[in-house]
Amino acid sequence: MSEWSNFNETAGFGHETITCENGCKPILVRLCVNSEDGNDQIVKTQYYTATSLDGYIADEKNSLDWLMQFGEPGDSYPPFIAQVGAIAMGSTTYEWMLEHEINRDPEMPKPWPYEQPTWVFTTRALPVIPNANIRFCKGKVAPIHQDMAAAAAGKNIWVVGGGDLAGQFYDENLLDELIITITPVTLGGGAPLFPRKIAAPPLKLVSVQQYGKHYVEVRYEISKSAT
Ligand SMILES: NC(=O)c1ccc[n+]([C@@H]2O[C@H](COP(=O)([O-])OP(=O)(O)OC[C@H]3O[C@@H](n4cnc5c(N)ncnc54)[C@H](OP(=O)(O)O)[C@@H]3O)[C@@H](O)[C@H]2O)c1
Repeated sequence: MSEWSNFNETAGFGHETITCENGCKPILVRLCVNSEDGNDQIVKTQYYTATSLDGYIADEKNSLDWLMQFGEPGDSYPPFIAQVGAIAMGSTTYEWMLEHEINRDPEMPKPWPYEQPTWVFTTRALPVIPNANIRFCKGKVAPIHQDMAAAAAGKNIWVVGGGDLAGQFYDENLLDELIITITPVTLGGGAPLFPRKIAAPPLKLVSVQQYGKHYVEVRYEISKSAT
C-alpha cells in the first residue's frame, strides 16, 4: 500500500510512504519531485566520498594528503556531479576547502567549485566566499533537506561529509545511497566514514567498479525503515 504525505504543491515534492497490508510500520519513505515534464522523479540523497581501507575520510590532523597522492578523482565523478542539484557539507569540510582549495594561494583565491546551491552546517560564523551559492544552516537536517530537495529540482542531493552529517540524514530516514571510493591506504584513526550501525537489514550492494589502478567504488542502497 502506498500513500503520499506532506505533498507540497508549490514546491512539487512530497514523501511516499509504503506500508504493509497488515498495517505494520512504514517500511519505505522516498522523496519525489515533479520534474519539468510533469513526471515524478526520485530524488536520491547520496553520501559520495572516498575512504581509507580502515574507514576514515580524513586523518587525525584533518589531512587528505593520503587521498591527494592519487591525483584527480576517478572517472565516476563527472557523471555523478552532473546529476547533483544541491550539496550539503559540515563546517570542517568547508574549512578544509577554504584552506586547501579556495585560499591555497591567498594572493589568487580560486572560485568556489560548485554551481549547485550548497548548505554548510555550522553553529559558527564562517568566512563567506564572494559569489558562491552557499547558505549557512544549523540544527535538524529534515527541514533543511526539504529546502534542498526543492532547490535540486529533480536532481540528487550530495552529502559531501563528514560522516556524522551523513549519519544525521540517515537518522531522519533521508539517506538513500552510500557511494564509497575505497583507497589503498590505512590511516589508523581520523574522521570516521559513517559512524552509525547498519546491520539488519544490511545495506544492499548495488555495484562494484574499479577505477584506474587505485580506486574501488562500491555503491550501496540503504533500506528504509521507520525509526
Ligand atoms: N575523503 C573524502 O572524500 C572527504 C569528503 C568530505 C570530507 N572529508 C574530510 O573529512 C573531515 C570531516 O570532518 P568532520 O568529521 O568534522 O565533519 P564535518 O561534517 O565536515 O564537520 C562537522 C562540524 O559541522 C558542524 N555541524 C554538523 N552538523 C551540524 C548541524 N546539524 N547543525 C549545525 N552544525 C553542524 C559542527 O561544527 P560547528 O558547529 O562547530 O561549525 C561539526 O563539528 C574533514 O577534514 C573533511 O575535509 C573528506
